[in-house]
Amino acid sequence: MICLGIESSAYALAVGIINDKREILANIIYNFKPPKGMGLIPRDAAEEYSKKVYDILTEAFDNANLKPENIDLIAVTIGPGIGHCLRVGISVAKYLALRLKKPIVGVNHCIAHLEVAKMYTGFKDPLMLYVSGGNTQIITYKDGKYRVIGETLDIGIGNLFDVVAREMGYDMPGGPKIEKLAKEGKNYIEIPYTVKGIDLTFGGILTYVKNLIKSGKYKNEDIAYSLQETVFAMLMEVSERALAYTNKKEFVITGGVACNKRLQEMAKEMCKEWGVKFKPIPSELARDNGVMIAWTGLLMYKSGIRHKPEKLRELQRYRVEDVDPIWLKP
Ligand SMILES: Nc1ncnc2c1ncn2[C@@H]1O[C@H](COP(=O)(O)OP(=O)(O)O)[C@@H](O)[C@H]1O
Ligand SMILES: [Mg+2]
Repeated sequence: MICLGIESSAYALAVGIINDKREILANIIYNFKPPKGMGLIPRDAAEEYSKKVYDILTEAFDNANLKPENIDLIAVTIGPGIGHCLRVGISVAKYLALRLKKPIVGVNHCIAHLEVAKMYTGFKDPLMLYVSGGNTQIITYKDGKYRVIGETLDIGIGNLFDVVAREMGYDMPGGPKIEKLAKEGKNYIEIPYTVKGIDLTFGGILTYVKNLIKSGKYKNEDIAYSLQETVFAMLMEVSERALAYTNKKEFVITGGVACNKRLQEMAKEMCKEWGVKFKPIPSELARDNGVMIAWTGLLMYKSGIRHKPEKLRELQRYRVEDVDPIWLKP
């Protein structure tokens, strides 16, 4: 069985194709770049995706060496995300399902990040750190559901990096710029450390770092280095607490921030100390992509989940707890 997945919840329009033997046949990712100094304007991103979607789909079919008729299932992100952006993917998916007379399933974006991480690592029941632009969550499977047991109480960690980088004068996405600058940083600057049990906050850190930049007293490299060391140490502290609490023996990190090599290195060390298995996942499966949607769609469909195309619509605040992952049940 072959599934085509469409993702358009925020900064990426992506199409992935995968079969039930876990072979990735295509993984095309197109990132929206807002004008310099700006964040994402939903209407502009949606317009861009509408223009690009035909090319991205064509490229995916070409890469997979398949015709649209060869697809058995269509999967699409229905949330969480930005309404304008989600509707582009959902409309295209509905049309494809109708035209090709194929079933369609609506997928939760966060669950898709988790499922593809499990697919790649081969881990069965890991503790998961989900770190992206808008999300920072510790998630675990317990009593028949994925549950968020710790999370940011304000902004996502990727958003923190994006805004800090923008204050320094760099384009989106900011995370990779911060990582690059941090490698050149040598002097550690004290930054507030804000962990509350298994929860975290980044808003105060953002204000503090903005003031460091404005003061003109510090090198961007040193600020980036200190910021990364501080917030990643916070992530590791809550992960350790969650590992102790859940007693899970595997750990994965997913979402765009999981691409960061320094974070992977810290996770590797932490897991070694705890005797927990850890395996980093490649960036094209950690950041927003269509393969994760296609893979989760396959799991859902094979477990018997069916969605009526005419009923499918965007759920901007779709939480992981809202999903009943029946594919995980015996
Ligand atoms: N190497 C990196 N280090 C830190 N953050 C990164 C890195 N690469 C990407 N990011 C961040 O990941 C976030 C995007 O995550 P992603 O899961 O792709 O999207 P979304 O948040 O829309 O679901 C952005 O905030 C970006 O700055
Ligand atoms: Mg994401």
